[in-house]
Amino acid sequence: MDELRMDGRAVLERMRELPGGREVSHLAAGRGDVELVGGAVRDLLLERTPRELDLVVAEDAPSFARELSSRLGIPAAGDPEGGSGIAAHERFGTALVWWPGGRVDIAARRAESYSAPGALPDVRAGTTEEDLRRRDFTVNAIAVLVAGPRMGEISAVPHAFEDLARSRLRVLHERSFVDDPTRLLRLARYLARLEFEPDEHTAELAAQALAGGQLATVSGARIGAELRLLLSEPDPLAALGRLSELGVLEALGPGLRLQKRVAQRALDALPPDGHSDMLLLATLLLGMSHDPTGDPERAMLELLDDLEFTAGDRNRAHAAALKAQVLLDRLEAARTPSELGEPVQAAPVEALALALALAEEQGRTQAAAAAARWISELRHVRLQITGDDLLAAGIPAGPEIGRRLKLAMRRKLDGELPGGREAELSAAMEAL
Ligand code: CTP
Repeated sequence: MDELRMDGRAVLERMRELPGGREVSHLAAGRGDVELVGGAVRDLLLERTPRELDLVVAEDAPSFARELSSRLGIPAAGDPEGGSGIAAHERFGTALVWWPGGRVDIAARRAESYSAPGALPDVRAGTTEEDLRRRDFTVNAIAVLVAGPRMGEISAVPHAFEDLARSRLRVLHERSFVDDPTRLLRLARYLARLEFEPDEHTAELAAQALAGGQLATVSGARIGAELRLLLSEPDPLAALGRLSELGVLEALGPGLRLQKRVAQRALDALPPDGHSDMLLLATLLLGMSHDPTGDPERAMLELLDDLEFTAGDRNRAHAAALKAQVLLDRLEAARTPSELGEPVQAAPVEALALALALAEEQGRTQAAAAAARWISELRHVRLQITGDDLLAAGIPAGPEIGRRLKLAMRRKLDGELPGGREAELSAAMEAL
């Protein structure tokens, strides 16, 4: 790390190889105020690939964003279908340009103050130094000048290089977690992703903030947004592990608990079309479903609504958490696939993956095998015939059509109709 310490030019060289890097470089050449900052510098110094380029400019981030997007060939109004666009956030003086394969975050250099713990910051124009001092962790508070006579010059807060070299996360001041308690979740995220450790005093400050109930000063929407980022980390289970060790998970909702082995088994059982983030959320919610005195379903829905999960995600996660154990019992009791019936057929695949994990955990091998077979094979079984075929064959319109289709489906699930359409039709006709 020491040899990289002052080598801002090497950072810029690597930046130019990244999507948008060359265009940023060209655009910055005409002006002396553009700096690469934040996660982008941190990752380039660590020889990791940044997820985006973070820039600061002296003022007017949106106009820089427009110039950049025109260089990148992105239409001024964006191209939602092509996956590209420009967005500006007036209050914070920030702008974002994205396109397939790249993303550049631009902010006007600013100083921040917090009118109350957990409130959104008040911002005013600031110097490079002030802009670095408002940030969350020392390793995220390094800036490199992109062009001009001082090109490659690095500015950093105290301890930034030392912490980067020693894999350490350290906040910049005593009130960091009080000002912005979402940093407690960011801490877990970076600890896991970068495989860093918290500096001792930072760990103490995090514990104090939690004990002081600081998370309650932030809106559920902001905490939910951070939690969603955490669940979409490259190794979300490691991030949840850190969240749990720090005591943040418990503070997010009473009963939330990480069972690492169950979560890993469930992830292993989930097919590619499943939603791993919602499956992990469901494993956390399992702890709430054991409360015999309360109303676990309501408690789960209230928590997920407060964190502003979309209705689709909320239903998927809470259905999996609530139904996994019931599904497990049914998977064990059914002697044939058709006996699995409606609850299994209607359950999201995440619920089946969780049931499989619980079955393995409890040593119920037969149920685990039945779940695995449902996930890999039986859930895809569909009839080739439809109600129209039965109408054409003379069955009158009405509930009988549905009943006959259901019976044909049961026989198909049990492997009794290998003959395709014809076999299905005669099974449906002879049923009842
Ligand atoms: N930041 C902060 N406090 C927050 C959110 C962000 O201080 N609650 C600062 C950090 O310095 C961070 C920068 O804003 O580096 C940009 O934030 P973000 O894009 O979320 O993170 P990155 O550092 O770019 O990290 P990554 O994208 O790799 O997660």
